[in-house]
Amino acid sequence: MPNIDNSTSAKTLADLGAGNPTEIRLLFGVQRKDFDIESASCSDFSALESLRVKWIGRKSILTNITDNWLKPAAKEIKPIVGQALNELKAHVEAVLGERRQALEADFNARASHGKEGVDLSLPGVTRPIGSHHLIRQVFQEIEDIFVSIGFSVVEGPEIETPYYNFEALNIPEFHPVRDDMDTFYLDLPKGAPSPLLLRTHTSPMQIRTMEKRKPPVRVIVPGKVYRRDNPDATHSFIFHQVEGLAVDSDITFCDFTGTIEYFVKQFFGPGVKTRFRPSYFPFTEPSVEFDVSCIFCGGTGTSAGGGTCSKCKGAGWIELFGAGMVDPAVYGFVNYDPKKVSGFAFGMGIDRLAMLKYQIDDIQVFFQNDVRFLRQFP
Ligand code: FA5
Repeated sequence: MPNIDNSTSAKTLADLGAGNPTEIRLLFGVQRKDFDIESASCSDFSALESLRVKWIGRKSILTNITDNWLKPAAKEIKPIVGQALNELKAHVEAVLGERRQALEADFNARASHGKEGVDLSLPGVTRPIGSHHLIRQVFQEIEDIFVSIGFSVVEGPEIETPYYNFEALNIPEFHPVRDDMDTFYLDLPKGAPSPLLLRTHTSPMQIRTMEKRKPPVRVIVPGKVYRRDNPDATHSFIFHQVEGLAVDSDITFCDFTGTIEYFVKQFFGPGVKTRFRPSYFPFTEPSVEFDVSCIFCGGTGTSAGGGTCSKCKGAGWIELFGAGMVDPAVYGFVNYDPKKVSGFAFGMGIDRLAMLKYQIDDIQVFFQNDVRFLRQFP
């Protein structure tokens, strides 16, 4: 009885102990049965191709049988081996052909069924059309207003060096203003040339712009900023600002207030009242906070129900942003002559502007990506 295992075709007939015609036919019979089992489970074109390569490819079982069984066979049994090999080969080729035909027929049947099966009366697949996020829409509104009065739009890096984020804005190390902006520094490899941080405001772009351009400069800078603020209804650790900067040979405080008031009336409507309050920023002098009359209570401080307005807490005013005339010390960092130029700058919190204009009472909804909220601003 010959020894038959998986590598049968890799051995010679002598190794397999098959010396007479019966044993040789038994060996071929086993090969044929193996092939029949494998071909029966072959249900797609890729499996059929693997089967073909395995049995009649260049390094196939039939090639092995030719090399290991037929070629070294003794003269008297060679014709028997040759005949059995031809029969096996014919069987394998016939079955592979039949399987291919069956698969092709099946494929064609499915394809034609698919074509005939289209029901044109069924409703089509609705593909939802996206829209800009409300913050993006507000950026666009602001950009349109400022572009219409001669400003251009520039953008800058969200990862900054302390030099641009602080020092060149007249905020030296250990200045108390930095406490409010205690922020996110990046882990850098040892020997990195400078620490890096996520910018805490868009003001670094004042410096980057003036470094690149000579006066006159009129730019606005929309972008994301980051601070280590605890999230609540009006604070987020990531939020959006639009910086503004105008520098020329004769820009006055009147130009500044006129520009800001024009913007606010365009953005909120002509009925809104505005006011400036003294404030402090190391990079503007004088500095102001800019307020608008509360759009929720019409500036009365009293809600529709008669109680204190919860949005302005009864003040009738809501703080919008910080601004001021560019501090002459800042010009020193960008090689502008403070005796020849003057200008103003402002930094608006866009999330809060959007909240006011669209009466949204929690800043967090901008970051939650809840489509029920987003769909309200198509
Ligand atoms: C600044 O960021 C200054 N760079 C603004 C400036 C620019 C002043 C140019 C002068 C000249 P402030 O820290 O106040 O200032 O932030 C500006 C606005 O960002 C605020 O009025 C507020 O609307 C918004 N803001 C500040 N912190 C947050 C926060 N955590 N979440 C949401 N909005 C915030």
